[in-house]
Amino acid sequence: SESLTVAELAKKLGREPSEVIKKLFMLGAMATINQELDKDTIELICAEYEVEVEEEIIVDKTDLEVYFEPEDENLNQERPPVVTIMGHVDHGKTTLLDSIRHTKVTAGEAGGITQHIGAYQVVDDNDKKITFLDTPGHAAFTTMRARGAKVTDLAIIVVAADDGVMPQTVEAINHAKAAEVPIIIAVNKMDKPSANPDRVMQELTEHGLVAEAWGGDTIFVPISALTGDGIDSLLEMVLLVSEVGELKANPARRAIGTVIEAELDKGRGSVATLLVQDGTLKVGDPIVVGNTFGRVRAMVSDTGRRAKEAGPSTPVEITGLNDVPQAGDRFVVFEDEKTARQVGETRATSALQVQRSEKTRVTLDNLFDQL
Ligand code: GTP
Ligand code: MG
Repeated sequence: SESLTVAELAKKLGREPSEVIKKLFMLGAMATINQELDKDTIELICAEYEVEVEEEIIVDKTDLEVYFEPEDENLNQERPPVVTIMGHVDHGKTTLLDSIRHTKVTAGEAGGITQHIGAYQVVDDNDKKITFLDTPGHAAFTTMRARGAKVTDLAIIVVAADDGVMPQTVEAINHAKAAEVPIIIAVNKMDKPSANPDRVMQELTEHGLVAEAWGGDTIFVPISALTGDGIDSLLEMVLLVSEVGELKANPARRAIGTVIEAELDKGRGSVATLLVQDGTLKVGDPIVVGNTFGRVRAMVSDTGRRAKEAGPSTPVEITGLNDVPQAGDRFVVFEDEKTARQVGETRATSALQVQRSEKTRVTLDNLFDQL
C-alpha cells in the first residue's frame, strides 16, 4: 500500500503519535491516530523532522511494530516486571538467580560461565510474579547485555563486594542508562571476609550512582547469593520499584515481543525463546518472528513444561518457525496465517536484498513495499 497511518509513521520516526498529530494540525490537517496518510503528507511530516525521505529512514527490526495497532489503554492490566541481571563476570549473577529459583543452573554451565540469556519467571510468597533475564558477564557478550537491557523494566547490577566495580560493571550501568531503566545495585558475596561494601558504594558514586544512605537515590541491597542472605529484601525492592513504573499490558490481545535466543535443534527444528511483552501468545497462533514466520506448534515454559499460552512478561520457548530468527528480533502474532506468511516472506526477501546490496538504508518507496 502507498500509505501509513499516523501511528505507523510516528513509530518510524521514533516520535509520539500525539506529536505527529500536532505537527499535522499546524500544517492545517486534522488527523486521528489510525488515520491513513498519503505519500505527500508523509513527505511533509518527514521534512518537518528534517528526515530526508530518500536517505534517512533506516531498515530496522522494529518495523514489525506497525502490525501491532494501538488499542484502548483502559483494557490494560498489571503485568509482572521484567528484570535483567547484569554485572561483571563471576560476580554471582547466575548464583543469585539459582538462589531465587532454588535451583542449580550454574552446575550445568560449561566452565561456570554464562554464554546465553536465560529467562525465568518466579512467583514470590505473595503470589507476585517477576520475570528474570540472566545475562553473561564475560567481556565477549556485549550485544547480549545490550539486548537484555533493552527489553527490561529494571536492571539489577550485581557487584561482588570482594572485587568491586569492574569493566563489565561499568558497561552494564551504561546499557541500563541507555535503556533508561531503573537500576538496583545488589552488593553480592557479603558472606566473604574480604567483602568491602563501602568500597563498592564509593566506586559507584563515580558513575553517578549514589546510595540512599549517602544522600543519593540509588537502591543498594547487600546480599549473599550463596547463603541467600538479603535476597528477600532485594525482591521486595524489585517489586517496589516496578510498582512505581505501573507496568501494564493487555492479555486479551494478540501477542508482541522479542526473541531472547534462537537456535536450530536437530529434532525440533527452529527453536526460539520469546519474551511476550504484550498480549497473550497461544499454540496455533500465526506469527512473524524477525524475518521468519510460521504457526506456533508447541510451547514450553521456562520450567520445561508444555504450555498452551503465555501472557505478558512471560518467557516461552516455541517451535514451528520456517527458519531460525535472531536474538533481539521482534515478533508479532497475526490474525491469519496467509498474512503472516506474506509479511514474513517479504521481510526475508528484503533482508536478503539489503544484505546483497550491502545497504542498510532504504527509500520510502521500498519501505512501502515491505508493508
Ligand atoms: P558469568 O555468568 O560468567 O558472568 O558469572 P556469574 O556472574 O553468573 O557468576 P556465578 O553465579 O557463576 O558465580 C561465580 C562464582 O562466585 C561461583 O563460584 C559462585 O559459587 C561464587 N559466588 C556467587 N555468589 C557468591 C556469594 O554470595 N558468596 C560467595 N562466597 N561466593 C559466591
Ligand atoms: Mg552467569
